Amino acid sequence: MKVDAVLGLQYGDEGKGKVCHSLLKDGLYTHVIRFNGGGNAGHTIYHNGKKLITHLIPSGVFFGVKSIIGPGCVVDVEKFFREIDYLEDNGIKTEGLVYISKNAHIITDDHLNEDGTDTSIGTTRTGNGPCYRDKYARNGIRAEEIDLLDSYLIDIYQEFYEKDNSNFKILAEGAQAFGLDIDWGDYPFVTSSHCGIGSILNNGFNHRHINKVYGIIKAYETYVGAKKFQPEDEIFNRIQQEGQEFGATTGRKRQCNWLDWNLVMKAAKMNGVNRVVMNKVDILNKVEAWKIKFNGEIISFDSESDFVYWTKKQLAGEEMRVSFSYTPHDFDMGD
Ligand code: IMP
Ligand code: MG
Repeated sequence: MKVDAVLGLQYGDEGKGKVCHSLLKDGLYTHVIRFNGGGNAGHTIYHNGKKLITHLIPSGVFFGVKSIIGPGCVVDVEKFFREIDYLEDNGIKTEGLVYISKNAHIITDDHLNEDGTDTSIGTTRTGNGPCYRDKYARNGIRAEEIDLLDSYLIDIYQEFYEKDNSNFKILAEGAQAFGLDIDWGDYPFVTSSHCGIGSILNNGFNHRHINKVYGIIKAYETYVGAKKFQPEDEIFNRIQQEGQEFGATTGRKRQCNWLDWNLVMKAAKMNGVNRVVMNKVDILNKVEAWKIKFNGEIISFDSESDFVYWTKKQLAGEEMRVSFSYTPHDFDMGD
């Protein structure tokens, strides 16, 4: 059994959905598992020329691959069924493919109401924080307690360890990102789950299973939430426009900034990333500015190729393979 991971190295919205969709095309995976978060995520996917957005259901469904919502996730039951309908309405078959781990937690109306009044963090108001809080306070409700979910429930141990798992190849589809991680992100402007490699282990896998770790970045940075993030410079409004940087879950404008290379390296090293995909390089070409924040300074480049060369060189030093991708095209890792 092998697990490949797709992790966000910034503040979410790096294009993890696109990378997962692209990795699944070759038919190599037997399972896809989401291991953190809930309906707060928004994965934008171009499937057969159509733009689709998923929040909770792993992207295995686009290719007939078993798609599991793991125990580290929180599930809004109504939203789950709405997403099943949305996918079916768009011609994506979900029957017999979608599963929820018995011990995943349930988002209640109280969680939604409470999160719905948040203004200090700028949450997605999908009930995440209150649900995780109650889980850790041992007051939570698990998926196995909900009759409506009976036919979707799965036991992770039975599925992955009580069967011949020698040919299992699992794609672990991350949500949110290192900069939003409850422990490693910019607290308190974080989400309430763990978004890194450790979270995959806590969903039922172990260090021996981990194979490729894809760290996903965007050629610039975006963040949605209450803290001030975007510097006062017209260029960032242009990046926001050119990049169509609106939250896939809430529709809010994403604040933009230059790529923070120190954050990328920290996230990559701490998560054992060995493949880096940089998305949306084309957006910087549109505004004709290529800049990176590094060690407290802003480095400017004259062209895309200078920008790409610099990042490639930094990553090569860490023995990471790197691929650059453009909107909305797929990426190619060359393996
Ligand atoms: P929550 O996860 O809804 O509690 O929101 C906490 C913070 O994480 C807010 O700043 C959200 O905008 C941000 N956030 C949560 N999920 C995502 C995501 O999938 N992409 C980008 N930002 C997110
Ligand atoms: Mg997103």
